[in-house]
Amino acid sequence: FAFTPANRKWAEAQITKYPEGRQASAVIPLLWRAQEQEGWLTRPAIEHVADMLGMADIRVLEVASFYFMFQLQPVGSVAHIQVCGTTSCMICGAEDLIAVCREKIAANPHEISEDGKLSWEEVECLGACANAPMAQIGKDYYEDLTAARFGEIIEELRAGKVPVPGPQNGRYAAEPL
Ligand code: FES
Repeated sequence: FAFTPANRKWAEAQITKYPEGRQASAVIPLLWRAQEQEGWLTRPAIEHVADMLGMADIRVLEVASFYFMFQLQPVGSVAHIQVCGTTSCMICGAEDLIAVCREKIAANPHEISEDGKLSWEEVECLGACANAPMAQIGKDYYEDLTAARFGEIIEELRAGKVPVPGPQNGRYAAEPL
C-alpha cells in the first residue's frame, strides 16, 4: 500500500497541522483517507500510516480496531451497512433490520454478499436514538427505518442507486428552531 500522490500530499498537510513531536495526532484522518482509498484498512495500509507518523504499527492498529468507522476486513464494493443494535434501536426494531441483512446480504456480519456488492455488521449506538431504528451506510444515516423500507434501500444500493438518506418516514427529531 501507498497513498496516491494526491492523498499523500493531503496526508502530509494534515501532519503539519500538529506541533512537532505530536504527528501521531493525525492518525485518524490518515487512517480514514487510507480506508477511502482502499475500501478497508489492509495491514500494509496500517503500516504505511504508522511509517508516516513515526508510530509503532500496533499503536495504529489499536486506534483502527477501536472505532466502528474503520474496517479491518474486506467490505462490499458498493456499501458496508452498519445497523445500530443498541437499546433504542433494539426496542424499535433493530432485530428486524438485522434479519433483512441476513436475508438480503449475507448470513453473518462481515461476510460479503455473493455479488460482492454489500456487507453488514451490527454496531453500538450511533447517536441518532430519537430516530430509531437506524443504520449508517457510508457517511449517511438512514433513520426511522422499517424492515420493508430497509429492504428497499438495500435493493436500491444493489441496483447502483443512492437512496435518499435521513428519516425514512418524513419525521424529524425536532422542529427547526
Ligand atoms: Fe441506535 Fe442510539 S440506540 S442510534
